[in-house]
Amino acid sequence: MRLSRAVLTAVVVSLAAVAMPASATAAPAAPERGVTDVVPAPVSAKADPKSDFRLTPFTVIAADRGAGQVADYLRGLLRPATGYPLPVVPHAVGLPAISLRLGHDARIGTEGYELKVARDGVTLTANTADGLFEGVQSLRQLLPSAIEAKRVQHRTWTVAGGTILDYPRFADRGAMLDVARHFFKPDQVKLYIDQIAQYKVNTLHLHLADDQGWRIEIKSWPKLATVGGLTAVDGDPGGYYTQAQYKDIVAYAASRHITVIPEIDMPGHTNAAQSTYAELNCDGKAVPVRTDTEVGYSSLCISSPITYKFVEDVVRELAAITPGPFLHIGGDEAHSTPPADYLAFEQKVQPIVAKYGKRVTGWHEIAKSNPPASAVPQYWDFGGDNASVAAAAARGSKILMSPANYAYLDMKYDPSTPLGQDWAALIEVRNGYDWDPASLVTGVGENQVAGVEAPLWTETIRTSDDIEYMAFPRLPGIAEIGWSPRATHNWDAYRTRLAKQSPRWTAQGINFYRSPQVDWR
Ligand code: ACM
Repeated sequence: MRLSRAVLTAVVVSLAAVAMPASATAAPAAPERGVTDVVPAPVSAKADPKSDFRLTPFTVIAADRGAGQVADYLRGLLRPATGYPLPVVPHAVGLPAISLRLGHDARIGTEGYELKVARDGVTLTANTADGLFEGVQSLRQLLPSAIEAKRVQHRTWTVAGGTILDYPRFADRGAMLDVARHFFKPDQVKLYIDQIAQYKVNTLHLHLADDQGWRIEIKSWPKLATVGGLTAVDGDPGGYYTQAQYKDIVAYAASRHITVIPEIDMPGHTNAAQSTYAELNCDGKAVPVRTDTEVGYSSLCISSPITYKFVEDVVRELAAITPGPFLHIGGDEAHSTPPADYLAFEQKVQPIVAKYGKRVTGWHEIAKSNPPASAVPQYWDFGGDNASVAAAAARGSKILMSPANYAYLDMKYDPSTPLGQDWAALIEVRNGYDWDPASLVTGVGENQVAGVEAPLWTETIRTSDDIEYMAFPRLPGIAEIGWSPRATHNWDAYRTRLAKQSPRWTAQGINFYRSPQVDWR
């Protein structure tokens, strides 16, 4: 049968009329964001597109007593891009509000929160300001990524509707910055603090002293900083924090609900101190300055009383400017300290930390010294059997997990990565995400794990751009391992959520690695 041209045209047009709406609904644009897209994945999230909330020039932030600091922080996040006034008030009195409420909810602990987004308002409830702060990090991800812009964007601002109930799997989610191999100025540390806080990281470990440089003012040994601080890897310029600058960094971190853990690495990794003060050497002669990246050659003089005067002075001054509970005493790679000396040193130094009111944390080698149950060994090896770490866990210590082959942010992504090292592994985004801290070390299960930390060693890292390139996108993965229930762990779902974070990083000016494993926006 031959159809006339008119009939054919009519058929085509009517088919198109049927097909058009069908194809338009068959592939709806995936929403940019929703409560199920949050990183780290929440404990539970139920999206409700009918209950989106519109931010307007009339929106207020209603804060309970005790929530004022978080309310001011939230206002500071939302004002640059919206340009709205968003006043912080005690009661909304009929105005559309984001309400920050403090309550008593046994389900969510000290850092959990409940977030309800409805058409008539947003309510964030927690037991503590820490919980509200973590809830705010989820709330900001429910707004368009343009909310991260530093200047006013003329557009509508919709908070994706639904509810979230959330709390962390582990108490400790950390990042470490090595400011010894290369020095980073206070503003660079604060920038990193802001970048990690958005993924609910709650500790920042500062590696303040190593062979190549000493970075913290110690008033009783002033040349540690003024002389020992001059150097850095490859002869690059050094630097140090005055105690006032350190306290300012600690206070800034606290305003982001992050606790600083200062590290003085000893009895090895001490060349900067021993090249500065001759009396820290057994032969009374200062060793030469070193700015290469060898490890394991330096050792404090274990038999000398001056060594313990030095340690006590440093510990006392550092404890006095550190409000957090921990001092990190290093203890790794002490290859030039005989094992018996290492034990003797640890058994003298750990009580000094306790004397100044602090708990000991240190690299997992300290587990060999029978530390008290209050001590937290930080595991940095590749997993499997480690008898002393398992024994410390059995005695009651919690273990912080930083396996070098998964969590070290200084490892290259692949052989072509222009920065970083490869001695532990090449760590693509998936490798950095696909591991479980509770099944890494024999004898260290869920209840013996303190949490996770992503260290960034800086032998090859010199700028904030460099820090960002190594930390993003891997740091959010480590943060998610530390925060999210194991049941949410799923690479395919994670890579989709992670991709949606990238416009936020672009708006924040973060220099991230565009891994081929992720379909970036
Ligand atoms: C370490 O990587 N030496 C802790």
